[in-house]
Amino acid sequence: MTLPELNPQPSFMKIAEQTIYFSSSENLETIQEEFIDLIVTSPPYNRGKRYHSDSNQEYDDKKNEKEYLSFLKRVWKECLRVATDEAIFFLNIGDSAVDQGISEKVVTTAVEAGWTRIQDIIWVKSIYGKGHYTPSGRNKRFNNVWEHIFLLVKNKKRYQLNPKAIGIPYADKSNIGRYGETDLRDPGNVWHIWYEKTTGNTIKKGHEAPFPIGVPYQCIKAVPTCRSVLDPFLGTGTTLAAANALNIKGFGYELYPQKDLIKETILKGQDYSSPSTILLPHYIQSIKTLLNIISDTDTAIAPPLTKKKTLQYQILLDTLEKLGLNSPSNSLTEDLKRLQLK
Ligand SMILES: C[S@@+](CC[C@H](N)C(=O)[O-])C[C@H]1O[C@@H](n2cnc3c(N)ncnc32)[C@H](O)[C@@H]1O
Repeated sequence: MTLPELNPQPSFMKIAEQTIYFSSSENLETIQEEFIDLIVTSPPYNRGKRYHSDSNQEYDDKKNEKEYLSFLKRVWKECLRVATDEAIFFLNIGDSAVDQGISEKVVTTAVEAGWTRIQDIIWVKSIYGKGHYTPSGRNKRFNNVWEHIFLLVKNKKRYQLNPKAIGIPYADKSNIGRYGETDLRDPGNVWHIWYEKTTGNTIKKGHEAPFPIGVPYQCIKAVPTCRSVLDPFLGTGTTLAAANALNIKGFGYELYPQKDLIKETILKGQDYSSPSTILLPHYIQSIKTLLNIISDTDTAIAPPLTKKKTLQYQILLDTLEKLGLNSPSNSLTEDLKRLQLK
């Protein structure tokens, strides 16, 4: 007689230092207690999206609200159990067009599970029309072009953040030295990370709601103590793609996995090295201002330049470099066209 297996090992897949469990994150017993330094996730939003596995098993994304919130609370409790005392939890959730209060209810479940709420970060998905969002406002409201990233921690006294690790250059270089010696300042609590692909495009690939890699990438980089990251709602694997790019050990749980899509996402993340998709309004502002002093040709501006203009031109070069556009003076018009500013 064969005895039933009491604690069957869930199936999993390993890609480099990333481990993906194909089971429910309501039970994280495959992870050691007090092991995870950082949790980055975006749970199902309970809006009727279609999440399905390779074998066409489907998640019910329209649960009754009470059931939905208690499901999330169970997951957040498990996350707390496996988190180190220094652990940080970035919880991404957007409000829906018709329910502007759901994100507040979701973050409350995390607080009820034992996490301490520190700050709300606003993630802007589209800037001045660049970057995708689903049109939903019609003639009743404006579209939602931002979502929350709630910053929560296990122990208020123990956690550490390093905002400058995801810092941005000063627009006014004379500020260098005032608050530190480097040309880096805290990016603030509004993050501009646009979607490169439309929702239609990602649906075609098989998943309705991935976040751009810039989101988990920023979160991981900002945590200096991060040695291990967990995403309890892995989806396509974006969090582990960022972990892979940053050489951090990652763990993900996905109950409805599309294994090839996860593998492809994680491996593709390897090439992601700088958040070139993060475009801050002051960059656009500097570029627009600088356009006024730059000729329409591909050549660099002609001397003699005033001191102020030289400084502005330097800011433009820095800005374009930060955006991943190299040698701007070789093809300035082309670069600006790519930025859709001309
Ligand atoms: C909003 S999506 C996450 C998208 C992800 N951030 C990405 O970039 O691809 C939420 C995911 O949670 C998964 N999910 C739902 N219930 C789950 C459970 N009990 N355990 C693990 N994953 C679950 C869904 O299948 C869906 O892929």
